Amino acid sequence: MNKPLQGIRIIDFTHVQAGPACTQMLAWFGADVIKVERPGSGDVTRSQLRDIPDVDALYFTMLNSNKKSLTLDTKTQAGKEILEKMIKTSDVMVENFGPGALDRMGFTWERIQELNPKMILASVKGFSDGHHYEDLKVYENVAQCAGGAASTTGWWKGEHSEPTISAAALGDSNTGMHLAIGILTAYIGRQQTGRGQKVAVSMQDAVLNLCRVKMRDQQRLDRLGYLEEYPQYPHEAFGDVVPRGGNAGGGGQPGWILKCKGWETDPNAYIYFTVQGHAWAPICDALGKPEWKTDPNYTTPKARQPHIMDIFATIEDFIKDKTKYEAVDIFRKYDIPCAPVLSMKELLNDESLRKSGSIVEVPHKERGSYFTVGSPIKFSDLKPEVTGSPLLGENTDEVLESLGYSQDQIKALHADKVV
Ligand code: COA
Repeated sequence: MNKPLQGIRIIDFTHVQAGPACTQMLAWFGADVIKVERPGSGDVTRSQLRDIPDVDALYFTMLNSNKKSLTLDTKTQAGKEILEKMIKTSDVMVENFGPGALDRMGFTWERIQELNPKMILASVKGFSDGHHYEDLKVYENVAQCAGGAASTTGWWKGEHSEPTISAAALGDSNTGMHLAIGILTAYIGRQQTGRGQKVAVSMQDAVLNLCRVKMRDQQRLDRLGYLEEYPQYPHEAFGDVVPRGGNAGGGGQPGWILKCKGWETDPNAYIYFTVQGHAWAPICDALGKPEWKTDPNYTTPKARQPHIMDIFATIEDFIKDKTKYEAVDIFRKYDIPCAPVLSMKELLNDESLRKSGSIVEVPHKERGSYFTVGSPIKFSDLKPEVTGSPLLGENTDEVLESLGYSQDQIKALHADKVV
């Protein structure tokens, strides 16, 4: 099987989620990823949220497949020497330590360039260099608040109208995906110039990049004073900031979450329904409302908007005796963009996702097999094979040998707790 990133050696100095998600993806595509972890404890996610005592947690196994693990105390002199050797023989170093940690360890960008001018240093931080919050340590939800997601997600009135966090890892894994693009870009750049470079993505920027349409809306609001696709329009007043829009479509197509049969007891008995402007006639046909096709109150998106919630209520009434799957099966025949709200349980057991490799079962030396999310990127010439995550220090000796250490030297490094 062709693995395009084969031969690229990556020092994976990452932990928790943002960095590991990036290096895991590069490992799936063939890169040789060596995770460097603190002796004794390793990545904190090995022991966080464990479901089996003393066994690496799913938090770790699901973000570190296809990697090797080397334990190394990089605060000791011998540990620093090993890391120096690795830098000299690797292509990329990825890290997501707190601000300044790598410098304090003695590995400034200047020092790394001295050791290997071809090295690509890729970093995740909460905020970008020079930002007035650059000294802050950041986790997922902090980034969602700082990047605009929280202020624009959730409800604008009622009991739960405070800013809301998304369950999707917009701050962590999303930043890692941005970083992967940056690394591959720098790698291609290096083929042209022969030089490495520093690649940095801040979690705030990565979240903001996904909130691009909300910044679009802020500027429209500043100019117009209203946002016609938001549920507040036209009956409620707008303030001077983009409001939270509940489950509104967010783009040019109004949409909403609609109840289906069983919603009273099943928290996910819902579908998302989208009213595409040009697909109004099929919607009328699907609902058995042919008269709406010519009724001036309904013929244009603008005409529909003042009573869009009534339209959604009519659709809800139509599907109240249908399961979410039955409802989607009806609407799909009319080319209406819609989908059932799927639970994690349903996704985990989804045959199509298993077949495509989006959900894979992976063996693990200690926990037995577990399920993980496979590559969301599909290629015609590459089928990423997801392997189990390494145990802590599983590849320490093998990596040290590859760096030229003798068996006696390796023994001494273990005895001194350097590795
Ligand atoms: N050997 C010796 N020391 C090691 C080591 C190793 N193998 N690996 C890490 N360390 C040290 C670091 O050098 C650092 O030491 P110092 O602070 O004395 O200089 C120390 O461990 C702590 O590192 P830090 O990254 O600050 O850990 P933390 O647990 O306090 O903070 C985060 C965790 C995630 C908040 C922080 O790393 C961060 O803000 N990262 C950037 C943003 C990010 O990626 N956040 C999301 C993660 S999903």
